[in-house]
Amino acid sequence: MPAHRPAPVPEFLYGTAWKEDRTPALTELALRTGFRGIDTANQRRHYFEAGVGQGLAAAYRAGIVTRADLFLQTKFTYQGGQDHRLPYDPRADLSTQVAQSMASSLEHLGTDHVDSYVLHGPASGYGWSDDDAEVWAAMVKERAAGRTRLLGVSNVSLRHLQQMAASGAEAPGFVQNRCFARLGWDRDVRALCRDRKIVYQGFSLLTANPEVLGHPLVATIAARNKATRAQVVFRFAQAVGMLPLTGTTDAEHMQQDLASRALPLSADEVSAIESLAG
Ligand SMILES: NC(=O)c1ccc[n+]([C@@H]2O[C@H](COP(=O)([O-])OP(=O)(O)OC[C@H]3O[C@@H](n4cnc5c(N)ncnc54)[C@H](OP(=O)(O)O)[C@@H]3O)[C@@H](O)[C@H]2O)c1
Repeated sequence: MPAHRPAPVPEFLYGTAWKEDRTPALTELALRTGFRGIDTANQRRHYFEAGVGQGLAAAYRAGIVTRADLFLQTKFTYQGGQDHRLPYDPRADLSTQVAQSMASSLEHLGTDHVDSYVLHGPASGYGWSDDDAEVWAAMVKERAAGRTRLLGVSNVSLRHLQQMAASGAEAPGFVQNRCFARLGWDRDVRALCRDRKIVYQGFSLLTANPEVLGHPLVATIAARNKATRAQVVFRFAQAVGMLPLTGTTDAEHMQQDLASRALPLSADEVSAIESLAG
């Protein structure tokens, strides 16, 4: 295990998907702006993980942060979610693929451990499968070897989580899901997470919820606080216990997103937003 005291889980994660050649500069800018949590994946189709590593290295060189200040999260992605640029041998068994993907992530990120390792999505949309059980066991081994502090699962339904628990698998530390307001902001999954002390990470909080951003209630709260509607949504997410992600490419939005935690939101406003669309 790392000798230093691990960085705590931050209140916001900066997401690095879809940034391609801009990944190094945007990662560095996010750190310069104050983000301390970085989310990526060893899935070249949507993420440039080696570019995240270049951004981290630049930030270390510039004296902005050290590795110990950061919460780094990456993911294992099944072949079905990848393009031809695989971080493992597709002929190897799944346990070996997890080990190879992790080794490649550590090389990309220039570190000997990540803070969180996430199963990007279960093998099937229907339930927790034998393949998932094998991958999860391999991820637990990675943690035992000190290559990650914590484990998580992403793109999961309540059924996935219930079947995972029923199989006797160790509970994840994180669930990372796309968060739709029309599904009560993923109400059922969030309730299970609350019960089992799993931290819920929400993504697409803005892009999945245009009806919330356009709602008069959110507009009124934003105007009263001289804030943006996006800030109200992020503040709401934190108020209900979520760890939000933002992948903004805009310097001002980065500052606004971090500043949203100071926005005053009453308990009545939180419950009104929670039931706004579902
Ligand atoms: N586990 C998974 O399967 C999965 C899937 C998708 C995403 N993720 C993670 O979640 C991260 C975030 O992705 P996302 O789907 O939430 O979308 P996103 O990349 O954060 O996109 C947000 C969009 O909203 C815009 N925006 C406007 N005002 C904003 C503000 N104040 N703050 C932030 N954005 C603002 C952004 O434009 P500007 O750039 O102009 O600000 C951008 O077009 C990804 O980078 C990735 O790390 C994970």
